[in-house]
Amino acid sequence: MSVKILRGQLTSAEQTHTLGKRLGERLQAGDVVCLYGALGAGKTTLTQGIAAGLGVATWVNSPTFIFVTEHEGRVPLYHVDAYRLPVNDRDAARDIGLEELIGGAGVCVIEWAERVALLLPPERLDVRLEHTAEGRAATVEGFGERWVRLIEELSVSSGEQHTAQGG
Ligand SMILES: Nc1ncnc2c1ncn2[C@@H]1O[C@H](COP(=O)(O)OP(=O)(O)OP(=O)(O)O)[C@@H](O)[C@H]1O
Ligand SMILES: [Mg+2]
Repeated sequence: MSVKILRGQLTSAEQTHTLGKRLGERLQAGDVVCLYGALGAGKTTLTQGIAAGLGVATWVNSPTFIFVTEHEGRVPLYHVDAYRLPVNDRDAARDIGLEELIGGAGVCVIEWAERVALLLPPERLDVRLEHTAEGRAATVEGFGERWVRLIEELSVSSGEQHTAQGG
């Protein structure tokens, strides 16, 4: 399967939001976007940007002990926060309806996706956020033709903030 990686520095929360928005503008039903990163890395900020790009009008946050929130947009946004889910537990994932959300009628964005790694589809977008001295570093990795093309578009429209690598 083709893979493409894009790396960039996000020096403010606004830049994290903007990356999410550019992504959200390009997403379609059935897409799965997986977010990885330590506490406070910016996963929800990125999700809020994705929501803005999808035309979601409601507020997107990560309420404690709620695993999935659904938002109406150009296509529905399913926001999954796996922080409190047992790791790779198929029963727990089934309880929150993860299988139906992945590949469902909306876009599925999963925070702490490493906790459901075994349940993720092979064709997906992975976004890793890390704390750096300047703010955050983002690594965007696309698996499969659709995501490779999408990353190429992102890197073109993001100017000097992001440079494409790999292929
Ligand atoms: N690129 C950035 N530079 C500096 N601050 C940022 C950046 N991106 C996001 N932030 C800030 O980091 C804080 C945490 O962001 P956010 O809640 O999105 O993280 P999270 O990864 O969802 O955290 P959690 O693990 O608790 O769910 C917020 O105050 C947000 O504004
Ligand atoms: Mg969060």
